[in-house]
Amino acid sequence: MELMLDTANLEQIEKGLATYPISGVTSNPSIIKAEGKVDFFNHMHKIRELIGDERSLHVQVIAHDCDTILKEADKILSILGPKTFIKIPVTEDGLRAIKILAARGVNVTATAIYTTMQGILAMLAGARYLAVYYNRMLNIDIDAAKVIKELSSLLWANGTSCQVLAASFKNLKEITTAYANGASCCTIPYDLLETGMHMPSITKAVHDFSANWEEVYGNRTLLDVD
Ligand code: G3P
Repeated sequence: MELMLDTANLEQIEKGLATYPISGVTSNPSIIKAEGKVDFFNHMHKIRELIGDERSLHVQVIAHDCDTILKEADKILSILGPKTFIKIPVTEDGLRAIKILAARGVNVTATAIYTTMQGILAMLAGARYLAVYYNRMLNIDIDAAKVIKELSSLLWANGTSCQVLAASFKNLKEITTAYANGASCCTIPYDLLETGMHMPSITKAVHDFSANWEEVYGNRTLLDVD
């Protein structure tokens, strides 16, 4: 299983890496927009420096037509390195580009997936990750959990190295449901990760343990007792 950060915010990535078991960083043009008009490739370089070579960096193309997608992919790979995952929306042109890039051994993350059929096509075209848009699917009455379950079972049955990378989350229930339905990876906005750890019940449990310890041993840690 994997957990990725769905953000291009350097501060959040740094904080996230320090605390959470993060295996990669994903972004898209809307996520980049949230950072203002940053120097794009320079910013992506900074993300790569923060996450190191051992984590994956997923960078989305902007173009819609296959030829330009391929040129953008080449530019991304030449500037950010050959291990970079090229995120390509699963349209007809996108699929064509995925097929060509995957045949060249390029890491591809197929994105904007709303249906099982899109996922199957992207998997067959050679994508390494299938970015399934959980919350956006619910918004248009598509059963996201069912699509993830179907894709995960197919990937498992076919023994491919392709994985479901569930994305577009607005609450923790969506994340746990995606994992429980077979998504081997979820990419999550930093704020949502924090929400999961800042629940009053967790804080109260930790506070109660301290209070009980202090009643018996005073204000000491294990370092202070024999
Ligand atoms: O990585 C892209 C995906 O997470 C989209 O998220 O919040 O724009 O639906 P959102």
